[in-house]
Amino acid sequence: MREREMAAALLAWYDRHARSMPWRVGPAERAAGRRPDPYAVWLSEVMLQQTTVAAVRGHFRRFTERWPTVEALAAAEDAEVMAAWAGLGYYARARNLLACARAVAASGGFPDSEEGLRALPGIGPYTAAAVAAIAFDRPATVVDGNVERVMARLHAVETPLPAAKAELAALAARLTPRARPGDHAQALMDLGATVCTPRRPACGLCPWREPCRARALGIAEALPRRAPKPAKPLRRGHAYLARRSDGAWLLERRPARGLLGGMLGWPGSDWSEAPEPDPPLAADWRSLPAEVRHTFTHFHLRLTLHVAEVGPKAEPRRGAFLGPGRFRPADLPTVMRKAFDLARGALGD
Ligand code: ADE
Repeated sequence: MREREMAAALLAWYDRHARSMPWRVGPAERAAGRRPDPYAVWLSEVMLQQTTVAAVRGHFRRFTERWPTVEALAAAEDAEVMAAWAGLGYYARARNLLACARAVAASGGFPDSEEGLRALPGIGPYTAAAVAAIAFDRPATVVDGNVERVMARLHAVETPLPAAKAELAALAARLTPRARPGDHAQALMDLGATVCTPRRPACGLCPWREPCRARALGIAEALPRRAPKPAKPLRRGHAYLARRSDGAWLLERRPARGLLGGMLGWPGSDWSEAPEPDPPLAADWRSLPAEVRHTFTHFHLRLTLHVAEVGPKAEPRRGAFLGPGRFRPADLPTVMRKAFDLARGALGD
């Protein structure tokens, strides 16, 4: 099969098997002339980086109900957007999202080329290519983990990732058609997610089963090869959860830069081997026997929790008490939410 025939076979497969997603204009609607909303495409692509489709659906719906346009999002308060992002992880994405929304709103709309998109704050090569292809039908090559896996198998690339990245991207570029590049990009991602899966790929259902070299060699499931990842170190820390008699909790906004930057959290220590810090206020602190365990990209974390109930006059040295109207547990990043659930259990509701 030549490249042209392969692209056509993939599109024919997509016409029958495209997944339905809230941000997507499916192949039949596209053929009928409906264009996707660049705002929805951009927002979904930022949310989908490092996060599964299942986890993104609810957040995408809430964001677009609350901020239906890029102008509405640009006008939002930072803290509101950080709170709405809670649970998606990689919080730098939310800060970049706002910076990008504000730049787009100020310039009157999304640029419609890969280069124009690339010049926006917080938009990297992946997002620029995805929005150019999906929203504007530009022949940009979109390469995510799914696409890398499909290319590694199709061409039986034995070089391990990440060294193979440039080679896999070049192979993907050769297959990008001039016709329907947006559907092509989404088709490749769907193929990777539903047929050319990491384990037990469904090769019998694949539109590329004939040209696939890994399948012919019987090594599809073993590809792509990956260089062994360095083991994640274990870090420890302390968090202090104080509840005031009126139900308010002592919270602190984290510095804008760094891990969980800009998110709400519990006052505590750095996450290192630092000694236990002074608590954020004088109280009868009780340490909980159970720790919080959470894994970030580069390390595992174990947090020791200290809880206290305090009176109405408690004066914190850091942070501020936020009452039920000003703080919702759903606004916390996952690690802080885990701490909250343990503390609330220990203090009783
Ligand atoms: N993962 C990231 N972007 C996607 C898209 N547009 N379609 C399917 N899966 C995706």
